[in-house]
Amino acid sequence: MDHFQLRNGAMYAEDVPLSRIAEEVGTPVYVYSRATLERHAQVFREGLSGVKNPHIAFAVKSNPNIVVLKVLQKQGYGADVVSGGELTRALAAGMAPETIVFSGVGKTHAELLQGLEAGIGQFNIESEEEGYELAMVARRHGFVANCALRVNPDVDARTHEKISTGKRENKFGVPLDRTAAIFAALSEEEGLNLRGVAVHIGSQLSSLEPLETAFEKLGALIAELRAAGHTITHADLGGGLGVPYKADDVMPSPAEYGAMVARVTAGWDVQLSFEPGRVIAGNAGILLTRVVRTKRSGNGPPFVIVDAAMNDLARPAMYGAWHDFMAVEPTGERITSHVVGPICETGDTFAMDREIDSLAPGDLAVFRTAGAYGATMASGYNSRGFVPEVLVDGDKFAVVAERIPPETMIEAEKVPDWLA
Ligand code: LLP
Repeated sequence: MDHFQLRNGAMYAEDVPLSRIAEEVGTPVYVYSRATLERHAQVFREGLSGVKNPHIAFAVKSNPNIVVLKVLQKQGYGADVVSGGELTRALAAGMAPETIVFSGVGKTHAELLQGLEAGIGQFNIESEEEGYELAMVARRHGFVANCALRVNPDVDARTHEKISTGKRENKFGVPLDRTAAIFAALSEEEGLNLRGVAVHIGSQLSSLEPLETAFEKLGALIAELRAAGHTITHADLGGGLGVPYKADDVMPSPAEYGAMVARVTAGWDVQLSFEPGRVIAGNAGILLTRVVRTKRSGNGPPFVIVDAAMNDLARPAMYGAWHDFMAVEPTGERITSHVVGPICETGDTFAMDREIDSLAPGDLAVFRTAGAYGATMASGYNSRGFVPEVLVDGDKFAVVAERIPPETMIEAEKVPDWLA
């Protein structure tokens, strides 16, 4: 459930008409709903009621806006970060360092040190090589790094290939059949407190089955490691739960996910952590856009050209992803149309041959389910600048990220003397 609804023929974010945001902030603009973020955070936590003392670390990559992180921090969430930049954001949002988990295959020396100096809760080590490097950095600077070894369980998540991470051929984690040996080697390292295991097999999962298979493998691994004399106190089950992008998409609910987790992990006797991103933020945001013009070419359906483009919302161009597209003030008339942005690439297409609300130039429309992997994946392509972000809270709203106009981007470009 989200708080973007039609009221008397016009779409609102909570109690704010989207037309008011468009007027005051301009378009395109990302709009997030605080009530929806909080509801999703609570529903996910309630789903885990069968799990003792779960630690929930929001996947910052899905929506790194500091204000969004602050809303979730107030819900008792920590952060799953994958770069020094995300770590800086999580700390700036007021996240306690010990609630932060650092994942990612390519953490640099500087990022490892940044995490150690910040006193983060856990590093998820993704290779034997990274483990030795972390140990070395920790020893040199007088730290002991709490860490878990990320395992690649070789499970097909049955999602889009670009967001699948748990197959043997993917770059993530260490192969399951080598985990025991790598764990044994790294547990000897001074500077590491290797205390657990982690797994994350992919994103936008529409079935619990692959997750259950991965968790079962992790459970067997924990038993094997314990039998070899290791102390395992932590297990990180990652993120990945899918969300409905279309009205008739059926996704496992957080309650079903939580029940499965409780069942599979019943005997583990560890502190479990979770790294949800999309399920928290996805349907808590929309991208508000205005129709620039409509045109026909050939005999096909007309093109509706909006002022948002693939640089603002990359998912359709990148993954062929579907985002529901709706008029902010629908007339009831429907048309079949292509919806495209202004960028000079055919890939700048949001929808082909789709039945949508009839729209005229100047009308407002929204792309739904844009709160996760939306603004954060924006680029400056075609020198269009970066779209602002707004947080709505009841009948008030605030710009929580300003529009970055092309002029600001140009300021970073310096002409060298020898070319002046
Ligand atoms: N933990 C790790 C280690 C991850 O790599 C990810 C996502 C998550 C947690 C959060 O997964 P979620 O709960 O959001 O599914 N840009 C793509 C999604 C990439 C996901 C990358 N990793 C998209 O727009 O679909």
